[in-house]
Amino acid sequence: MANPQRFAFPPDFIWGAAAAAHQVEGANWASDCWALEHARPSFFAEPSADACDHLNRYTDDIALLAGLGLKAWRFSIEWARVEPEEGAFSQAAFDHYARVIDCCLAHDVAPIATFHHFTNPRWVARDGGWADDRIVDRFARYCARTAEALGAGLAWACTINEVNIPDAIAGQMRRVAEKFPDQAAAAHAALGAPVQAFFLFAGGDGYARRAIEAHFKARDAIKSAAPHVPVGMTLSIQHNVAENDAAADGLAAYRRQAYAPYYEAARADDFLGVQTYTRQLIDATGRPHRRPPEGVEVTQMGYEYRPDALAAVCREAWAATQRPLFVTENGIAAADDARRAAFIREALTALHPLSAEGVDLRGYLYWSLLDNFEWLYGYRMQFGLIGVDRATQARAIKRSAVMLGEIARANAV
Ligand code: BGC
Repeated sequence: MANPQRFAFPPDFIWGAAAAAHQVEGANWASDCWALEHARPSFFAEPSADACDHLNRYTDDIALLAGLGLKAWRFSIEWARVEPEEGAFSQAAFDHYARVIDCCLAHDVAPIATFHHFTNPRWVARDGGWADDRIVDRFARYCARTAEALGAGLAWACTINEVNIPDAIAGQMRRVAEKFPDQAAAAHAALGAPVQAFFLFAGGDGYARRAIEAHFKARDAIKSAAPHVPVGMTLSIQHNVAENDAAADGLAAYRRQAYAPYYEAARADDFLGVQTYTRQLIDATGRPHRRPPEGVEVTQMGYEYRPDALAAVCREAWAATQRPLFVTENGIAAADDARRAAFIREALTALHPLSAEGVDLRGYLYWSLLDNFEWLYGYRMQFGLIGVDRATQARAIKRSAVMLGEIARANAV
């Protein structure tokens, strides 16, 4: 019998987990990120190396996800594998991702593919990457070919993961590049182009126009090859709050830079992917605070522990776009798995009133299925529902994973 104290989610609500190719697959040699990790000195704490060897272990990982009771797997297709040199598409790479999709379908798991999750092929970066206009048509061509090869099996498609994040963190990344000129020079040498070629450093300087055009062309290419697949972008949206009354203009300025053009673009999409991790104060100059207020609980990432941020962000994204929303990422980096379980439960409980408010929310994907390569931070951060032994690649299911699976099976929290 249903527990009357539980909050039910809408029927057909989709429960799952997410990851990105570069962070879990391993051996992504043809990517710009790999080159940056091996620059000396590097902005990256350590190289991604074999990551979680998900390239070879995807059948086990998808079986684990399905065994928990989760029904969706958000993975990314690695452009650097599919098109390691310009125009040289790899049939073996398409075949690999076709097997990933088939494996999902065999487990009754919805395959949700992201076409770009931060990394580019090296040849794209060499030409300036996200700082160069040619990326628009190159990305669209890769999406067209990929959707022709793989689109039939997909349940949902995301074009560019967190397409707004370069603009949301532009000031911070500019300061990082200035503060570490040796790393910046080594990155330039490794890429054959300034570090702004790499997605996370690309904000400002016409990035929004380029990225939104790339999204539109990619969306059209995917839809024409696979008309049944809902296509959207995903956005990194934190719950931004003015630090005090005097910072209202600063908050508005930050919103114009980090979100407004992207919300506008998303209004023509099938859905919007929402990705939220925390609450963030904004000062009067429009700068996000680098650290949370004194005395609050912080996660491994140094973020304020704010599971309630997700509901606030969903309200904002719904008001701004009126598009169906999908939580394509939400999670916490924590050594103590009990904090992860609490975070998930609190985040989901706070979502409960949304459906009565008319917000069309389709699903929730936890970030991440596995402890994985957290970009510049390397392997220190533990976002996973499942732990990964770095020496043996052995997987260890955490209690939070079992809890999320139970919530998914009950469709209630
Ligand atoms: C990204 C992930 C990342 C996660 C946690 C998101 O910004 O899409 O790749 O690992 O946040 O930091």
